[in-house]
Amino acid sequence: MGIFFDPENRLFFIETLNTTMCLMIADEEGFLVNAYYGAKAGRDDLRYLTGGACDPSVPSRNNRDRGCYFDKVRMEFPSGGTGDFRTPIVSVRDAGGHDSSLFTYVSHRIYDGKDELFSGLPDNRTVRMPATFSGDSKAQMLEITLEEKVLGLKALLSYSVFEDSDAILKNVKLINESDSTVMVDKLLSSNLDLDLSAFGNNEPDLVTLSGSWARERRMDRRTISRGNTEVYSTRGESSHQFQPFFALCDGNTDDSYGTVYAQTLVWSGNFVCGAGMDQFETVRAYIGISPVHFSWDLAPGGSLQAPEAVLVFTKDGFDGMSHIFHDLFRTHLIRSPYLHRERPILINNWEATYFNFNADKLLDIARDAKKCGIEMLVMDDGWFGKRDDDNSSLGDWFVNEKKLPGGVERLSDELEKLGMKFGIWFEPEMISPDSDLYRAHPDWAISSPGRVPTRIRNQYVLDITRSEVRDYVYECVAKILRSAKISYVKWDMNRQLLDLGSAGLDEKSMGRLSYLYTLSVYDLQERLLEEFPGLLLENCSGGGARYDAGMLFYSPQIWCSDDTDAFERLTIQAGTEMIYPLSTMGAHVSASPNHISGRVMPFDVRGAVALSGTFGYELDITAIPEEERKAIPEQVEIYHSVGDIVREGDYYRIARISDTGLYDAWMSVAKDKNRALLTYVQCKGSPQNNKRLIRLKGLDPDKKYRLKLIGSEREDSSFCSHGKKEAWKLLDPGEVSGRSLMNAGLLMPVLWGTYGQLMIEIICI
Ligand code: DGJ
Repeated sequence: MGIFFDPENRLFFIETLNTTMCLMIADEEGFLVNAYYGAKAGRDDLRYLTGGACDPSVPSRNNRDRGCYFDKVRMEFPSGGTGDFRTPIVSVRDAGGHDSSLFTYVSHRIYDGKDELFSGLPDNRTVRMPATFSGDSKAQMLEITLEEKVLGLKALLSYSVFEDSDAILKNVKLINESDSTVMVDKLLSSNLDLDLSAFGNNEPDLVTLSGSWARERRMDRRTISRGNTEVYSTRGESSHQFQPFFALCDGNTDDSYGTVYAQTLVWSGNFVCGAGMDQFETVRAYIGISPVHFSWDLAPGGSLQAPEAVLVFTKDGFDGMSHIFHDLFRTHLIRSPYLHRERPILINNWEATYFNFNADKLLDIARDAKKCGIEMLVMDDGWFGKRDDDNSSLGDWFVNEKKLPGGVERLSDELEKLGMKFGIWFEPEMISPDSDLYRAHPDWAISSPGRVPTRIRNQYVLDITRSEVRDYVYECVAKILRSAKISYVKWDMNRQLLDLGSAGLDEKSMGRLSYLYTLSVYDLQERLLEEFPGLLLENCSGGGARYDAGMLFYSPQIWCSDDTDAFERLTIQAGTEMIYPLSTMGAHVSASPNHISGRVMPFDVRGAVALSGTFGYELDITAIPEEERKAIPEQVEIYHSVGDIVREGDYYRIARISDTGLYDAWMSVAKDKNRALLTYVQCKGSPQNNKRLIRLKGLDPDKKYRLKLIGSEREDSSFCSHGKKEAWKLLDPGEVSGRSLMNAGLLMPVLWGTYGQLMIEIICI
């Protein structure tokens, strides 16, 4: 890995383990052009790849037709109004309202290390933005300074690489060095122009993740053509609906093979990303903060920092892409001391009781949970103010003594006596119209003058961009945490931002609000972790509406979805795992029939699916059938015995239910390839159906393995149509090489019933 400059040909080589990005300073005027990005190339004169970017068609030689040039060349930092008619990533207006701009090369520097990113709040508070860091690895940076001569702007384009990663990190900072304010209407973090030859000269596929509440992150794939295809959020959170992520790939790329160019954003607010082909079939792909609900008055001397974009290239299909994202996030983004630790197995009372609980009920749950080996009770929504449903009290973070006599302190003491840890739910960013806080400070809600703020879930959003509001919110949360032994916080956010208006911003800077809101969330969480460094923080947003790389900087785990139905989770979790490590994925066993879908599923299948994530329970343990309660210690034991493979290993998709219609299967393989975990979930019995051969992945072909069926000892296990022993006999290959498991595969038996599961540990001998 490394970053190199070839002064003779004016080429930058940004190299990772297996990839090269080559940027070129083109023409005397110094346009920054992308010469190449893909599999590792030599440090050769790659200008030949840029075709029209070089002589003789450069503007300095062909000034009569500049438009032809800019509309054709693979621009690295495209702006608008000066010849490139494609989508710009930067858009600025001068004091007179003119919006043309063109950025050209001034200088560059290459240096060791990885810079942190900073931005500021209106009260001049500096906030460190979430971004990757070098940790124990070597890192290098390239900072290219471009200038917009007429407007007096500088754009600092930064590129970073780590010695142990195939990702390239990019960010942009815009600085106003002129004497007058300019309005920034758009500043995306990354643009990538690619020749169609990157996709074998075929129109590429665009993969995104989309969904809704309780249906998050389903894989969408379509072939793109001329014109842009975009996904976005304008909701003030990364959203249930789309992810700040896309992958461009060959039409035949699958989980195991094929070209993938993927990008994501280390940001938790509004975003846009997309791709499209132009008239010459060049593909332009971009990602950054959405220009919708955004403008930034950039005063003389001021700067605007765009969040970090993560770029990944691989020839190893979606599994290869996921490995790069997972390893990058585990090594260079998640800071929590819990990252590599076994997380406490928790039981959350939300689906057990909703708002209808008191301390006795929680302690009953905790007592039974403790007997089963569960380690932490999480008290969810409804413990404060007079909140007996979702119509009131957000903002009134005072314990409801009717429900919890003696307060949180007494409950945490009781739990400690039981040997249980204690976690608590907050929704700090919100305010109910029916709350003492709103009655005292109606102006603290984000709102637009003359417009009654729109209610969602009967609540408003607090304007945490104002320091007095942010301080109030912080103190509310911190005071509770100081008052008791609390190991874990679930930080929820259950509505989107609308009616954007802040009493703290004037008309010129109102367009900053959605950006500043996200920054304020980061500021609050950073303060919390500074004061409570041992706290395990789990982010959540009505399920998984804030599952993004930005949040991982603060919390090592994020609640994946309010849909805890294990069948639905197969698809939701597979989408989530495209980008995010399994160790980050909040996954719990819930009651059957499931509260959202009504689906009835065996307990062991619910367990197998939840064991792919951070693992816990979301049910009334005092009310579930006795045989289910008896089965919990075994699941707990499985988590303790193989959780490290899930947490630290490489994840492989073996079969998707959306493809097979019968079953789903995935693996985690330890980095040394000495242990692996295969999880197979049957979703349809279909005894006469033979399509059950699966090929394992990621093992060492030359090593010998044995297979161990996990949980097979249990008498009440109900997974086999042939009886347990016969099924295992049919499947178990005895001692077998990795080569056979990967090339010849395993023939999975038809399990008894509709749903069934097999968790198989694969152990090197
Ligand atoms: C939404 C979360 O996703 C749920 O788990 C639960 O905490 C509720 N909010 C509580 O209101």
